[in-house]
Amino acid sequence: MKEAVVEARGLRKDFGPVKAVRDVSLAVDPAEIVAVVGESGSGKTTLGRIIVGLMRPSEGSVTVSDRPQMIFQDVFGSLNPAHDIGHHLRRAVIRSGRRVPDVDREVVTLLERVGLGERFVRRRPHELSGGERQRVGTARALASAPRLIVADEPVSMLDMSVRVEILNLMARLRDDEGVALLYITHDLVSARYLADRVVVMFAGYAVESAPAEELLDDPRHPYTRLLLASVPGSSLDPAPAAGTVQAGEAGCPFAARCPVAVAECGRTMPPVAPLATEPSPGRWLRCHVEGAPR
Ligand SMILES: Nc1ncnc2c1ncn2[C@@H]1O[C@H](COP(=O)(O)OP(=O)(O)OP(=O)(O)O)[C@@H](O)[C@H]1O
Ligand code: SF4
Ligand SMILES: [Mg+2]
Repeated sequence: MKEAVVEARGLRKDFGPVKAVRDVSLAVDPAEIVAVVGESGSGKTTLGRIIVGLMRPSEGSVTVSDRPQMIFQDVFGSLNPAHDIGHHLRRAVIRSGRRVPDVDREVVTLLERVGLGERFVRRRPHELSGGERQRVGTARALASAPRLIVADEPVSMLDMSVRVEILNLMARLRDDEGVALLYITHDLVSARYLADRVVVMFAGYAVESAPAEELLDDPRHPYTRLLLASVPGSSLDPAPAAGTVQAGEAGCPFAARCPVAVAECGRTMPPVAPLATEPSPGRWLRCHVEGAPR
């Protein structure tokens, strides 16, 4: 078996009364792209920040093979406008502690790896397009030669054609250089395009995980089905009638909206389980109705 580049176990993060992440375990293999999808506030960014070590979990542990790097939605906000791109990348190389014989040469190599060239060394952040800035963010993340990059909505501020370019860049880093990626997004279409596997989050829980194509073609968790129903062209019912189960504090947080909820859903959160029917390797979910009986 390949050793995972990150393995998170039982992560929980509370912000006062807000349970941002609840009992999330996940692993990413070398050269694997895992998409984390879910609605706003479901805990995706919090999970990403814990995994790269920017935030401590309230409970649980993260084992990483080296220091992962994070790319943010808005790279602009993290680039000092007074300094050129060369400065930012030189600093990233030096801070990484890697022994490189020639830092300036390494900066050019980084720019080339993300499809930019030497002519960007002297540019300032405001002299770049949005797509170029995300490439610089990627180059900066690559400066420490990480085996895992966590990218939080890296393309959501870009227009469609540029999005595809950046997603292709990420896929190339996986295919040619073996970089693993945790790709945080609202966008299921890009998750299918890019990811090998998708993890769906709802209210802080990871509720379903499956190979990307399987999840999008045959979603099983009731929340995943609802999420997919909103994708244009889906044949799923966008507004199934909700059941009558009251969601309790310890129960499944989706219960009040769930069309197939049973009484137990209001009382307990189901554990991780394979599908109740046609179990498929590596596929799991947390659902009293769709998961295998305990
Ligand atoms: N530093 C913080 N202090 C207090 N609450 C926080 C903090 N960071 C996040 N939260 C809360 O934790 C929950 C999860 O937030 P998070 O940013 O992880 O969600 P998200 O899935 O990334 O959402 P979005 O898709 O909008 O980016 C939200 O209810 C949010 O308000
Ligand atoms: S556990 Fe129950 S309420 Fe939650 S998604 Fe499954 S059936 Fe619906
Ligand atoms: Mg977020």
